[in-house]
Amino acid sequence: MSNAVLKSAGVDQVFLSEVIAGLSNAPKALSPKWFYDQRGSQLFEQITQQPEYYPTRTEIELLASISAELGDQLSDREALIEYGSGSSRKTRLLLRALPQLQQYLPMDVSAEFLRGAADGLSKQFPKLHVRPVVGDFNSTVKLPATVQSMTRLGFFPGSTIGNLPPSAACSFLRLRREELGRGGKLLIGVDLRKPVEVLLAAYDDSAGVTAAFNRNLLLRINRELGGDFDPDRFDHQARWNDDHGRIEMHLVSRGLQRVRIDNHCFEFADGESIHSENSHKYRLGEFKLLARVSGWEVVSQWTDPQQWFAIFLLG
Ligand code: SAH
Ligand code: AVI
Repeated sequence: MSNAVLKSAGVDQVFLSEVIAGLSNAPKALSPKWFYDQRGSQLFEQITQQPEYYPTRTEIELLASISAELGDQLSDREALIEYGSGSSRKTRLLLRALPQLQQYLPMDVSAEFLRGAADGLSKQFPKLHVRPVVGDFNSTVKLPATVQSMTRLGFFPGSTIGNLPPSAACSFLRLRREELGRGGKLLIGVDLRKPVEVLLAAYDDSAGVTAAFNRNLLLRINRELGGDFDPDRFDHQARWNDDHGRIEMHLVSRGLQRVRIDNHCFEFADGESIHSENSHKYRLGEFKLLARVSGWEVVSQWTDPQQWFAIFLLG
């Protein structure tokens, strides 16, 4: 498809230009935010059910165990703003602990999935005003005037902060400092360092769901941008990068191949990869330092008994 045809077909021009730029770079890399179309969000939910993927169940158990404490510490909060809310599954726990909340603003790039989750939540919590926001959490959210006059709590679970490079994580935290206002608080989930074999298994589950999630990026490029990737000719790979303290996901070319997108042609050498995601695993001290240099103080912190996952209340 030519650029003019793609434009008239309602193509996301930002997606197109980032894909062209990312695949023109050496090494080839794409932002993980492009994983999340409707299918990608569904696959992520399936990942959270896999036995190897410890973060979701660990964070949920931790949240449940501290919910009474959260209820006490956050009893003055009126509005909840969640970044990368997905299915809002963890939010339900928080909403039960904080029944005084009046407004909930879930924010996500996955528009259709966000609407479904927001509808479900409105039905379950009829007194809560649910206002979904489709958008990128790397930019400021224009809060409605009513919310601006309320005491605000930001919620960023899942260790989605780990998908941002530390400099972008710092910018994210600074943005939230401004948006949540004087007296604003942020409850954030952070995945911690642990044995590498546990990490590698979590990002390469035996049922192949994470592999399907990774390859869905290629299918999405085919669907939305008219690409001609053959996803079966790319292997899913999870790698531990010790220098950066992160799990990386890659799509590795099986053999020499050419891929066309729009009127661009990309050549892949045998074994060449598209770096599709980073997932940083913090040490407790590293994250506390990051929070401080980004303008926040740690009010409270909790970890599970194995110290695999941490929840921080920042203020
Ligand atoms: N908070 C949920 C979902 C985590 S998955 C949980 O803890 O289980 C990450 C979520 O962030 C997805 O729903 C994805 O669509 C969203 N997301 C990823 N990058 C984003 C971005 N740049 N801006 C807004 N949402 C984003
Ligand atoms: C959303 N994010 C925190 C997940 C993670 O663990 O980095 C995304 C994911 N990628 C592969 N599996 C899960």
